[in-house]
Order: sequence, then C-alpha cells, then structure tokens
Amino acid sequence: MGSINASVDLRRDGDVAVITVDNPPVNALKHEVRAGLVEAMQQAHDDAAVKAVVIACAGRTFFAGADITEFGKPPQAPSLHDVIAAIEAIPKPVVAALHGTALGGGFELALACHFRVAAPSARVGLPEVKLGLLPGAGGTQRLPRLVGPEKALQIIVTGEPIGAAEARGDGIIDEIVEGNLTAAAIDLARLIVREGRPLRLVRDREEKLIGEGFADAAEALTRRLRGREAPAACVEAVRNAIVLPFDQGLNRESELFRELVAGDQSRAQRHVFFAEREAAKVPDMPDATRPRPIALGAVIGAGTMGGGIAMCFANAGIPVTIVETGRDLLQKGLDRVAANYRTTVSRGGLAADEMERRMGLITGATELEALGGADVVIEAVFEEMDVKKRVFADLDRVAKPGTLLATNTSTLDVDAIARATARPQDALGMHFFSPANVMRLLEIVRGAQTSFESLATAIALGRRLGKVSAIVGVCYGFVGNRMLARRSVETERLLLEGALPQEIDAAVAGFGFPMGPCAMMDLAGLDVGWRIRQGRGEHALIEDALCEAGHYGQKTGKGYFRYEAGSRTPLPDPEVENIILETSSRLGINRRPIGEAEIVERMILPMINEGARILEEGIAARPGDIDVIWVYGYGWPVWRGGPMYYADRLGLGHISDRLTFYADRSRDESLRPAPLLARLAAEGRGFAS
Ligand code: CAA
Repeated sequence: MGSINASVDLRRDGDVAVITVDNPPVNALKHEVRAGLVEAMQQAHDDAAVKAVVIACAGRTFFAGADITEFGKPPQAPSLHDVIAAIEAIPKPVVAALHGTALGGGFELALACHFRVAAPSARVGLPEVKLGLLPGAGGTQRLPRLVGPEKALQIIVTGEPIGAAEARGDGIIDEIVEGNLTAAAIDLARLIVREGRPLRLVRDREEKLIGEGFADAAEALTRRLRGREAPAACVEAVRNAIVLPFDQGLNRESELFRELVAGDQSRAQRHVFFAEREAAKVPDMPDATRPRPIALGAVIGAGTMGGGIAMCFANAGIPVTIVETGRDLLQKGLDRVAANYRTTVSRGGLAADEMERRMGLITGATELEALGGADVVIEAVFEEMDVKKRVFADLDRVAKPGTLLATNTSTLDVDAIARATARPQDALGMHFFSPANVMRLLEIVRGAQTSFESLATAIALGRRLGKVSAIVGVCYGFVGNRMLARRSVETERLLLEGALPQEIDAAVAGFGFPMGPCAMMDLAGLDVGWRIRQGRGEHALIEDALCEAGHYGQKTGKGYFRYEAGSRTPLPDPEVENIILETSSRLGINRRPIGEAEIVERMILPMINEGARILEEGIAARPGDIDVIWVYGYGWPVWRGGPMYYADRLGLGHISDRLTFYADRSRDESLRPAPLLARLAAEGRGFAS
C-alpha cells in the first residue's frame, strides 16, 4: 500500500482500498497510470484485509479518457483492456467515484466497476467519435447493456456528454452525492459489503439488449455524415452488442478501433483537437500575464450581429448592456433576440424559465453612458471606418479605465480604429461569425499596440463564451475572410467558364462542406459584398448582375438559387442560368463542361496559397490556427483536418504544380505559388514542418 508510482496511489481506509490517480491536468490514462492501476488492483485483490475497492481521481476531473498523444505510437502494455480485466477479475465490490468529466476510456473504465457514484456536477460521455474513433475499451458493448442500445447509440454517435442527473435517471450512476465524494464512495463500498449485495458486472446484463427500434435510431443519427467514417463504425459496434456474445462484440470493437485510429480521418481529427487548444496560445506572451476579470459586458449596436453577441454573454451568465442609437432600433434588436430564444424553446433546446433568466441578463440602453461600468465593450455597428472611429473616440470618454475595447469588424484596419482612442493597448478585434450565438469561431485580432493583458482577457472571455478562439494579425479580412475571398474569385471564374451554381455547390459539398459557396453567399446576402465592391470600385460580373436583378439571396427568395416561400432549400434557377450564360457570351467566353475534380481543386488550392501568404506575413502564428478557423468558422470538414493540414497530406509539390498550371492558364499571377509554399515544396517539406 502507498504510492504505486508517480501517478497512482493506493491506501487503506479500514477495510476499503482507495486507489487515487493524479495525472494533471485531466487524468488521461497514459501508460504509467494504466500500469499503476493494474498493480493497485492486484494488491487489493491479494490483500485479504481489503473487502472493497474505490477508484477516484485527484484534481479537476475523473479520467478524461485515453491519452490521445499515445495514439499512433506503438501500444505499450498494459492496455486499457488489461486494466478493465483487472477490475472485473476482483471478487470484491469496486466503486468508481466520478467528478468533472468522465470521458472516453475513463467512462469505459467506470462502466467496468460494479457501482458508480458521482458529484452533482459530474458529466459522463463517450466523445471518441469527435476524434474520428469509436469507444475502444468496451464502451460500445457495456453502455447498451446499461441503458439500452438506442440511448447508448445516441451518446456514442453524438459524442455529447450527459449530466449526472440524466445519467442517474438512465441507471448509469447509482448515487449522486454532495460533499466529499471519495468519503461517500467509501461509505457506499462498506454498505455494499455489509449488506452482502450481489456483485453483477455490466457485461453480464442482458435484459436491456432489445433490438427493436435500433435500425430507425441508427438511421436518424447517421443521416448527414458528409463523409465521416467513425459514426458508421459506432453503429456496427452497438448493433453487435445486440446480436453477438459479449466477447465477440468486444473483439470486433477492438478491430474497428484499430482500423479507425490508424486511418486518415482520425489522424486529421486528432490534429484539429490539439490545434484548437494551441490556437488560443500566444507564443510571445509572458507566462505571468493574467486576464482582467469580466463581470459586466456591453455591446454597441443591436443589429443581427450585436444581438447575437449579447446572446453569447447571456448564455454564459454574464450580464450585458446593448446600446443602440434610437428606441425603435433598440426594441427591434431586443425583439429579435427574444424571437431567437423563443425558437430554441419551441424546439425543446431551452427551458422557458431559462430563456427568461437569459433575457433578464440583457439590458437595453440608448445612451453610451450606460456602458460606463462595463469590463468589456464590443462594438458591432455599421461596417464603416468613420463610424467605428467615432464610436471608439466616444468610448474613450465613457468607458472606465482598463475596459477591454473590442471591434467586431470583419474587414477594417483594427489599428486605425484603436488609434481613435487614447488607450490603444486596451483595443483589439473580436471577430464573431454569424449567427454569433451559434458559430463557435472567434478571431481575436491583435493590434500593433494591443497589450498582453488585453489579449489574455479576450482569450479568457472567448473561453467563457464557449468559443474556439484563434489569434490573428491585422490585414484585410484577417485569416478566414481573406482566404474566402480567393474562393469567391474562383467561384465567379468557374461560373463564367462553364460551371453552374448547383455544380459548384455539389462539388464542394461532395468534398465534405455542409454547403457550397453559392448557397453560402445566398445565406449571407449578395448585396453586402456588392455594396463593399461599389465602395472600393471593384466588380464581380455575375454577382453584380444578380444583385442588379434583385437576387440578394435568401432574403429576397432568390440569389444564386431560388427559394420557395418558407424554405431554405436552394433550387436551381433558370433565370440565374440565363444571367450567367449572357455574361459569359458578352465576354466572348466559350463555355465548357467543368468536372468535379477541377472545381474542387480550384475551390481549395487558391485558399491554401493565400494561407501560405498569411503564414509568411505572420498574420497567423501556426498552420494549425488556420485549420481551426476553417473548421469552426466555415464548415471545413473536420475529418480532412483543415486546409493547411490537407495541403500537407496532398503534398506541397503537387499543389505547387497545380497552382502553376492554373496561374499560366488564367494569366492570374495571384495563383502563382506563394514564396513560402514554393520554398517548402522545393525542399520536400510541409507547412507543419
Ligand atoms: N489525452 C491527452 N491530453 C489531453 C486529453 C487526452 N485525452 N484531454 C485533454 N488533454 C490535454 C489538452 O490537450 C490540454 O493540453 P494543453 O494544456 O497542453 O493545451 C489539457 O489537457 C487541458 O485540456 P483542455 O484545455 O481541453 O481543458 P478543458 O478543461 O477545457 O476540457 C476536457 C477538459 C473536457 C477533458 C477536454 O480536454 C476534452 O474533451 N478532452 C478529450 C476527451 C476525450 O476525447 N476523451 C476520449 C479520448 S479517446 C479514448 O478514450 C479512446 C478509448 O476509447 C480508449
């Protein structure tokens, strides 16, 4: 008894052996932990004075799963299966004490114990599917035995954790305990021994394995996979729980896990997992930098964007003031927020009283003075430099010292806006994506004079708002929209040369995006870009012609596609086809059929090229930051790992050749491989190197 190794401790509390694991930050089940657990179980097994065992974790959480950094490396015994076998082999009650997030292999380990107690705030889940995997330590066989195949499949295919109360209702957790969790687990273990309760392993339960309804549930859960392989493997494995004996189901689960973990999709998704955590780190930020506290937020502008940002605050429980210039505009904005919440309530996504609570956190005002007490102000007014500068100059007057001053601009020079105040060190960009309360991405734009403290405050705020943050530098369009602009140019060209909107969108959807560029522009509104182009003296012939014909997108029922009343389904539009054909013919272009492969190349490679320029200019610190931006802001298929990761998989040499081909053919020098891309290609390296 005592310390087994640096991560695992075994002590005796009377006749109960208490195994405590401490592997910060999330108690991942790395090799040392597994080895320690097997050794501790063995000692508890052999010690006749031990009548029961408790497994608990120190720190902020029970095991959050296997150690993802070990995937792709040669496996080191003992495996998690060995740990679980050691738990199931012991003829004494084993109680798992769950707090924090018991996820993946951690939850699977708990499922192998006889009993589970949990703190009220604990959550359990099998998020492996988000890493392109399936639960590989018996989760697909044990969970269906505990909660029935349908509920198990839902937990496994969505990867979403459930709270302790729900888990208790489903029979996953035996007891929820307030106060000292380990002490409660020890008490329960003792009670079980005293009562001589029968010890029944989950693997031996069969009564809930009912197959009826499973096929329908599987169909509903896997309807829109867009190329992802893991969910189908999850379905197969859970179905096996119904039709195969336990051990055979377990073997097949292991086989599927091994295939997935070695596959391209999981590798890409693991890359995104780590890139996401890295993107919010600032390489040159001193370790001692601390964020300023945020207790009260303010948003200027009650438009769609401002309202959405205010909802982010309310959803995170932070009181927020929305300031708008006039009563009517303000009321319209607040009504829109309420209507958004009501839709969520009517769809069952939010309780009515919770909506009331959140609306109660949002206050409207028509005077800037109302934001005097705010710790952060996010400006979301009209996208025009003079307007923004005026707002920032006013903020100087009304905001208290140390308030974080953020602009939600998507194109304008953040440094110029910051200079409108006497405290540019407190200013930066916080670029939310529409709809702001839904989209996870937040581009945090670091200005030339932004202080580390301000950056740290924005990053901490982003985290509280549930966003995935990426730090970017100042340039036109920052990272996401700057790359998107390349795709838009190429979309227009493809349309002129011979493709139709439905063909382009089908190719892009086939690549794995939830929607193609034409449907996306219809959603955003074509008139927005049209106005910006007019201001800059620029043209996009087809899109301009569409706007002139009143095709503004979904809001007018017609854009690149037509939309039937009340429907968001894009339908091919003969009128649009005519506009495109006329424009081509006016320019003397001989239209030709363009295949899917060419469309995909031309949609993706110019973006990667722009990404290379962005890296070279230091606008993004790492290629992974760009990947995160595209996955979370623009629907890049996560199983393809983001544009820069995808580029490395494709090979920069190949990309360089193809870009050269397109640059020569179109005589567009911007398609010529960017210097960084050309150099890495010549050296046979990738962006990740
Ligand atoms: N393995 C290795 N490292 C992990 C990890 C894991 N399973 N989970 C988290 N980490 C690391 C993160 O990379 C991060 O490292 P840095 O500080 O160096 O960036 C650190 O732990 C803290 O993580 P977060 O910033 O994400 O912390 P959080 O408090 O916001 O979230 C969490 C905690 C909910 C546990 C979240 O980290 C998470 O979802 N982790 C992944 C859980 C998971 O997918 N588990 C299943 C693993 S696969 C598996 O178990 C296969 C199987 O069936 C056997």
